[in-house]
Amino acid sequence: MKVLMCPPTHYDVVYEINPWMDTSNKPDPKKSYTQWKVLFDLYQRLGVEVELIDQVKGLPDMVFTANGGIVYKNMFVSGNYRYQERKGEEKYFQQWFVDHGFTVKTLTNFQGGEGDALFYRNTLYMGYGFRSDKAAHTEMKNVLGVEGISLRLIDPYFYDFDTTFCPVGDRGVLYYPKAYDKEGQARMAAVENAVAMTKEQAQHFIGNSVYVDEKLLVSFVDDDLKKKLAAWDVEPILLDMSEFKKAGGGIKCLTLYIER
Ligand code: ARG
Repeated sequence: MKVLMCPPTHYDVVYEINPWMDTSNKPDPKKSYTQWKVLFDLYQRLGVEVELIDQVKGLPDMVFTANGGIVYKNMFVSGNYRYQERKGEEKYFQQWFVDHGFTVKTLTNFQGGEGDALFYRNTLYMGYGFRSDKAAHTEMKNVLGVEGISLRLIDPYFYDFDTTFCPVGDRGVLYYPKAYDKEGQARMAAVENAVAMTKEQAQHFIGNSVYVDEKLLVSFVDDDLKKKLAAWDVEPILLDMSEFKKAGGGIKCLTLYIER
């Protein structure tokens, strides 16, 4: 497994583009760095290869590399940010992927990178409604040549699909039904080994966990989650992500998968 991360050298909350963000509740820079570093070190210890991109001053959310785009084989499909506040990140992510030998593709419709698109068992599940347009899903499927499923997001607290949908390898997927419209809920209920998370788990960003070799990196755990994971022979590893929650982000947001 190989991922791209961005050390939080200029991370901050200076605007509000989702309901978690409050400019009067700023992240502590030291604590942010420590929390990020714990995740970075853990990845290395678990044998995950971590590549880094430098954070650009004036782009405080660039640490959430998941929104940069999505990688499939040798292609990087650049995210097309809806918010001007993050638009400036695009060229830096695109340059990084050019420099690392990827073919860079762009989309005409708004799309939130992996924040709104995740693979589960070779199907690309995509969210729309807040950061992405549904029309971007068709573009994405055509560019990548993959099967895809579209889900409409309806809760502003779960504005990015990757806060609602967490593939646990190929073993199963944890998802938050209430984040989707009725049609989306029905679709998800029919997905093989899809297990609903509770509201409390969702609010603690269990949807934003990352699976690595029989472990799930989480920022919250309770008995119910332990039981659900044990059924898949998966063990939770708890990390404190309080400073990133202040921007509406978590473990997965800080991680972009760059190998598939
Ligand atoms: N403050 C960021 C934003 O609103 C948080 C991004 C979280 N990223 C994610 N992949 N869910 O854009």
